[in-house]
Amino acid sequence: MRSTAKVVNFDRVLKHAERPHLERAVALPFVKWAGGKRSLIPSLAPHFPDEIDTYWEPFVGGGAVFFTFANRIKRAYLSDTNEDLTTTYQMVKAKVEKLIDRLQEHERKHRERRGKTYADGKTYYQRVRASEPTDPLEVAARFIYLNKTCFNGLYRVNKSGQFNVPEGSYPNPDICNADRLRQASKTLAKATIRLGDFDRAVSPGEGDFIYCDPPYDGCFSGYQADGFKGDSQTRLRDAGNRWKAMGATIVLCNADTDAMRKLYADDYAIHNAKAPRSINSKGDARGAVAELIITNG
Ligand SMILES: C[S@@+](CC[C@H](N)C(=O)[O-])C[C@H]1O[C@@H](n2cnc3c(N)ncnc32)[C@H](O)[C@@H]1O
Repeated sequence: MRSTAKVVNFDRVLKHAERPHLERAVALPFVKWAGGKRSLIPSLAPHFPDEIDTYWEPFVGGGAVFFTFANRIKRAYLSDTNEDLTTTYQMVKAKVEKLIDRLQEHERKHRERRGKTYADGKTYYQRVRASEPTDPLEVAARFIYLNKTCFNGLYRVNKSGQFNVPEGSYPNPDICNADRLRQASKTLAKATIRLGDFDRAVSPGEGDFIYCDPPYDGCFSGYQADGFKGDSQTRLRDAGNRWKAMGATIVLCNADTDAMRKLYADDYAIHNAKAPRSINSKGDARGAVAELIITNG
């Protein structure tokens, strides 16, 4: 017999989370992510077909868009240049129960060690942050633990690639949300998850659908040591032109700047959208920012 307890709990989470949306999310992101697109979903929904055979999302981040529209999608290719993030997606997909076990252990130790330091003066958070696991399951558990306990869910690394965000002050962080992880795992069954730059990660066929949510023009680009710099926006537009020529449909978000309007002025439709933002480079600035939804459809 089906266990109703879990379904009821998860439905409650969904109802709460989808308040600002018209679309009912299939699953919810299991990490907080700068530039998360949940608030843009109502503006994006009309641009997403009811049925998508092959879906590409080369800047997947927290995956809010894929998790929302997953019921419309038959097969997905999700990628990002953040290796810890893509490893975590792979573990959520393939080893969710083991990952839950490891996260519950982090959760227990985090609570036990609250307000205490070890002999070396480090807190539990600082110990985990300094650790450098190589086993993918440990990488994923560390990544989610740090994401849930660090300041504002930010991801920032120093020049040597070491995560350097301080601990946030959350009395009771939700380190292991087992229902959410299991739902994400089920939803990821239809996805192939890859590490890599957008240019190499996407190779669409005729009729494929590509959703791009790159780091925004003129905004926070500190996701990784190498950032999204220089001519990356032009490189993305050029890749878009190639994908278009291959018969793909493209939907792309970016900040409403003169540079972006100019870059996509030819052969694309530019739509205005406005979305509230809760995480940015300062971590505390909130408010509506003007955004663009750019399509070739
Ligand atoms: C705006 S965020 C995506 C947010 C995501 N749509 C969400 O809802 O959470 C941009 C993502 O692009 C990734 N990224 C940065 N440079 C990239 C590149 N050259 N190729 C692919 N991904 C890249 C970052 O690691 C980050 O996860």
